[in-house]
Amino acid sequence: MAKTVTKAVFPVAGLGTRFLPATKVLPKEMLPVVDKPLIQYAVEEAMEAGIDEMVMVTAPGKSALEDHFSPAVELESFLEARGKTEALASIRDDFPHPKKISFARQGDPLGLGHAVWCARDFIGNEPFAVLLPDDLIQATPGCLSQMMDAYQGTGGNVVAVEEVAADLTSRYGILDVTEDDGRLARAKGLVEKPSPDDAPSRLAIIGRYILQPEVFEHLDKKVTGAGGEIQLTDALAATLEGTPFHGLRIDGRRFDCGSKMGFVEANSAFAAERSDLHGGG
Ligand code: G1P
Repeated sequence: MAKTVTKAVFPVAGLGTRFLPATKVLPKEMLPVVDKPLIQYAVEEAMEAGIDEMVMVTAPGKSALEDHFSPAVELESFLEARGKTEALASIRDDFPHPKKISFARQGDPLGLGHAVWCARDFIGNEPFAVLLPDDLIQATPGCLSQMMDAYQGTGGNVVAVEEVAADLTSRYGILDVTEDDGRLARAKGLVEKPSPDDAPSRLAIIGRYILQPEVFEHLDKKVTGAGGEIQLTDALAATLEGTPFHGLRIDGRRFDCGSKMGFVEANSAFAAERSDLHGGG
């Protein structure tokens, strides 16, 4: 049986320039979908999947993320005194309280692989999850829970994947597939952001990973790849010989909240599921 995963890394050091001016002072992960910031959806998804220790890899100007996961004692007392029970519950009893949240700093923006590497001391020699909060996934059970189920059978590295249009491969890590049962695909190669002509398939990694700690050995080498960045995909490709790698198609809907259209669509899809909003609330 595969070793239980209890830790997760959230790379949240990006600048969010695509959402300026909204992100001039607000971290992009704090942008709300309906009334909850993106980062909170990711933390809740991780908790549902059994993760209780989390590391956020941040950058200067991102202290709102730390504040969001700290108790707001004055606000709680205010809401309590006013009898605002629903609002109070949203920041206290219904709020995610993982056993531990740590914060690590990514000194330089050297890429996703480097951001994950910055969390190595918190992870140690254990399998771990990585969640990119820009990718918001509407799914029951949650995306990471579905991956944990698959991981029990496969072990090794497991990522969430979806089929993308041929002209979009250059935005993603793409799998070179050796076996595929329509749900679970085993990869023999991985390419970060290939042009459509070079893409070995259209099966793209979306921002959820269950990884073995061996990936740190490759990230340690700080090899740069696509876009001059240290790519997580390249480090994972380097582990393929010794570690099985599977992509799982998720039963659910993924929104690319790093793009304006994806973000708007996510708001409308999540609002549609909220019974309290159907009366125009
Ligand atoms: C990152 C990864 C890429 C993955 C994507 C999913 O790219 O490098 O492999 O497919 O996330 O959202 P980024 O979106 O940071 O450019």
